[in-house]
Amino acid sequence: MTGIYDDPWAYELACSFRDVPAEVDVLLGWCAEHRPAGRPGTVLELAAGPAEHAREFARRGLAATALDLNPQMCAYAAREAARAEVEVEVVQDDMTRFDLGRRFDLIVTMLDSTSHLMTLDAFVAHLRRAAAHLSPGGLYIVEMSHPRDRLGDEPTVSTGWTVERGGVHASVRWGEPGDRLDPVTQIADDHVTVTITGDGDVVAPGNGDARVLRDVVPYRFWTATELDAAIRLASGLEVVAQYGDFGAGADTVALTDPEAWRMITILRGA
Ligand SMILES: C[S@@+](CC[C@H](N)C(=O)[O-])C[C@H]1O[C@@H](n2cnc3c(N)ncnc32)[C@H](O)[C@@H]1O
Repeated sequence: MTGIYDDPWAYELACSFRDVPAEVDVLLGWCAEHRPAGRPGTVLELAAGPAEHAREFARRGLAATALDLNPQMCAYAAREAARAEVEVEVVQDDMTRFDLGRRFDLIVTMLDSTSHLMTLDAFVAHLRRAAAHLSPGGLYIVEMSHPRDRLGDEPTVSTGWTVERGGVHASVRWGEPGDRLDPVTQIADDHVTVTITGDGDVVAPGNGDARVLRDVVPYRFWTATELDAAIRLASGLEVVAQYGDFGAGADTVALTDPEAWRMITILRGA
């Protein structure tokens, strides 16, 4: 079975509900606000997948590096950067163990990729590696899902959405109502189904039928207090702000806002 991360094109299509340039606007706005030296010159995207954010940073003139464990994701990220005629260095490595031998003004991990860190040891190792790669005053911005998803009065174990890009449609189901979070390990096996229809050549060469991808993606739920504990254990990083969505200035969303649906933490090298 091909997993969703082994098919980067389908993954990117499924996640195209995001406005990546708008998110990068906000990320750079936060840098202006929280980084004494202001606009970063170098950026490292961790667990980057197709590296859409790294590509966008590169388009804006930053020296961008993208790191991911999955070889298919890395090959796709490099190919898409070349196709977009931007320079992104792509590194296949583990976000708990990497050692690139240099530091970055900004490090980002987007779309709850830290949910692939299954243990506290892994999370702490990851934070230590991030801290070791930050230049003085550099920021590490981590986007996670909001704890309300799992701890609210009506926990969300499954979400569904549809996207359309260039005549190709994807109907995405991430998690099924039967998926259960293990109360001891805080790990769930999320059943994922992506149904792609549209342009026959892209969807299913030769017959134009729908292509259906199914996968089971292990997900580790991290609470806000566990995140705080992991940061303290790792040392070398301090929390400078937390937000509930991508929005700056008048559009700032507090983590405690009832509309908040992300947990975005801005860490600075201590
Ligand atoms: C949900 S995808 C997110 C991709 C990207 N951050 C985005 O915003 O689209 C999670 C990614 O994490 C990668 N990943 C999982 N465990 C990893 C690890 N230990 N080190 C590096 N990458 C990892 C997967 O290969 C996958 O590409």
